[in-house]
Amino acid sequence: MRNVKDLFDLSGRVAIVTGGRGRYGASIVLGLCEAGASVVIASRNGGACEEYAAELCALGHSAVGMSLDLSSDDSITALAGAVIEKYGRIDILVNNAVDRSNLVSVDGATREKLQASMSTNLNGQILLSQAVLPYMKKARRGSIINIGSMRGLDCPHFPFYPEAMREQAVNYTTEKWAMEGLTRFMAGRYGEYGIRVNSIAPGGFNPGLGDASEDGKKFVETYIEHCPLHAWAGEDDIKGPVVFLASDASAYVTGATVVMDGGWTIW
Ligand SMILES: NC(=O)c1ccc[n+]([C@@H]2O[C@H](COP(=O)([O-])OP(=O)(O)OC[C@H]3O[C@@H](n4cnc5c(N)ncnc54)[C@H](OP(=O)(O)O)[C@@H]3O)[C@@H](O)[C@H]2O)c1
Repeated sequence: MRNVKDLFDLSGRVAIVTGGRGRYGASIVLGLCEAGASVVIASRNGGACEEYAAELCALGHSAVGMSLDLSSDDSITALAGAVIEKYGRIDILVNNAVDRSNLVSVDGATREKLQASMSTNLNGQILLSQAVLPYMKKARRGSIINIGSMRGLDCPHFPFYPEAMREQAVNYTTEKWAMEGLTRFMAGRYGEYGIRVNSIAPGGFNPGLGDASEDGKKFVETYIEHCPLHAWAGEDDIKGPVVFLASDASAYVTGATVVMDGGWTIW
C-alpha cells in the first residue's frame, strides 16, 4: 500500500495549465508546482506566462511559460508539440482559460459573438485535449481537469442581482454546463486508456465587484450572506482539488465534478 503523501506527489509529472497567469490559474499552477510537477503556463500573452514561470523557478519550482491561443488550431498543435519537445511527456492538462470578451446577455447576443465564445471556451478545450491525448494514450495514463464553474451546475440566482446587473451572460452558463457533459463524455471514452477526466466547479474568486459600484457591493454582500460558508473563495482553495485530481490520490475517480463553491449550489 502506498503512503498517502506519495499518492499526492506529482514529482516527475508534466502539467499544462491554460490561462495559468489568471486568477484561479495562478493558484492552480502554484499548487501543481508545490506538489512537485513541472508546469507549462500557457495563454495568449506568452511573455506574462514566462514572467510568472521565472518567479516560480526563482522559488525552486519547475515551470515554463508558452504561448497559446485557444481560438487557433495551429497554436494548439504548436503548444502540444513544444511541450513534447521539451519534456517528452504530458501527464496533466488543466483546461482553465476563459475568454470573457464574447460573453453576452440574451439581449446582447449575436451569432458571431456566441460562436466566437464557444470556439475558444468550449471547442478550444476539446481541441487541446485532442492534441494531448495521443501522448496520454501512449503512456496509458493521464489526467485532464476541466475548470467549470458553479454556473455549470445552476444558473445565476437572478433575484440576488440588483436590477442593473440582471443581464448576466447567457453563454457563460451554457458553456459551463456543456463542460460538465464534455467531462463525462471524455471520461467514458478514454477510461480504457487509463486516462481520467474530471472537472472542478469553483465559486466566485476575487471578482472585484466589491469595489465596482454600489450595486456590485450589494451583490457581494448578498453572495456572502447566502453562501453556506459565508465567503468568496480564497487563493489556496483550488490547490487541493486540482492536486487531488491530477495525482494518484484520485486514481479511481473519473467523470466526477469536485464542487468547490462554499456550498453555494446546495440550495
Ligand atoms: N474567477 C471566478 O470567480 C470564477 C468562478 C467560477 C469559475 N471560474 C472559472 O475558472 C477559470 C479561470 O477563471 P479566472 O477568473 O481565473 O480567469 P481570468 O483571471 O480572467 O484569466 C483567464 C485566463 O485565460 C487566458 N485566456 C483568455 N483567452 C484565451 C485564449 N484565447 N487562449 C488561451 N488563453 C486564453 C487569459 O490569458 P491571456 O489573456 O494571456 O490569453 C487568462 O490567463 C475559468 O474557466 C472560469 O470560468 C472562475
